[in-house]
Amino acid sequence: MSDMLLTLEGVHTHIGAYHILHGVDLAVPRGQLTMLLGRNGVGKTTTLRTIMGLWQASAGRITFNGQDITRLHTPAIAALDIAYVPENMGIFADLTVKENMLLAARKAKHARDMDEERLQWIFKLFPAVEKFWNHPAGKLSGGQKQMLAVSRAIVEPRRLLIVDEPSKGLAPVMIDNMITAFQQLKASGVTILLVEQNINFAKRLGDRVAVMDDGRVVHAGAMQALAEDEVLQQSLLGLAL
Ligand SMILES: Nc1ncnc2c1ncn2[C@@H]1O[C@H](COP(=O)(O)OP(=O)(O)O)[C@@H](O)[C@H]1O
Ligand SMILES: [Mg+2]
Repeated sequence: MSDMLLTLEGVHTHIGAYHILHGVDLAVPRGQLTMLLGRNGVGKTTTLRTIMGLWQASAGRITFNGQDITRLHTPAIAALDIAYVPENMGIFADLTVKENMLLAARKAKHARDMDEERLQWIFKLFPAVEKFWNHPAGKLSGGQKQMLAVSRAIVEPRRLLIVDEPSKGLAPVMIDNMITAFQQLKASGVTILLVEQNINFAKRLGDRVAVMDDGRVVHAGAMQALAEDEVLQQSLLGLAL
């Protein structure tokens, strides 16, 4: 079995008449955290949506755990224990935190059916989820919503967790909390693919990094190597960071 849990080979995606992804090559190793970086508008979100089948790849191949998933529909992809936290987080503002969690738990109809041990683990990672358990999710701060969104994604065991810009708009203290939580998630063995614009967040968490530009991956390697090379960072990521 390959060391790679997820691979994209030459993936092209069209959105309507627009050709957005121009042959994305990406490899996500098992048990590691891979950062997908790049300036605004280069195709990071489109790449994630294409992995999840929310856009259809017009060419190329996406493989998960040795299985070709390029033509699968989103529910079939999610059923492989791949969780996706989109940029808008997909939280139901009128529902309580508990109800949001329940909706994400495919195997539970009532809170008492949820895996108690797992829930306690999530409460430790994200104390706000426990604190506001019976409050409407819409009342949470931006950072707390982000934490609820990640909690929903891990309410059941996942093999791959895909998160789009978890640090976006967060205060520095919330970013620190988020980094701690992802470090613990990583330690639990789950494979993670994170989109980021915040290079400091990326440096503190990433094992591997892929940098996109204009619908392609233009650099891939160890996060550490990119973190130590400011000239390369500047040329790949420019002033946007
Ligand atoms: N629904 C859409 N319709 C048309 N163009 C889109 C749509 N979504 C994204 N794009 C375009 O695709 C390109 C890549 O967008 P995106 O993947 O969101 O970039 P990133 O996440 O890296 O900021 C951008 O030029 C964006 O304008
Ligand atoms: Mg995006």
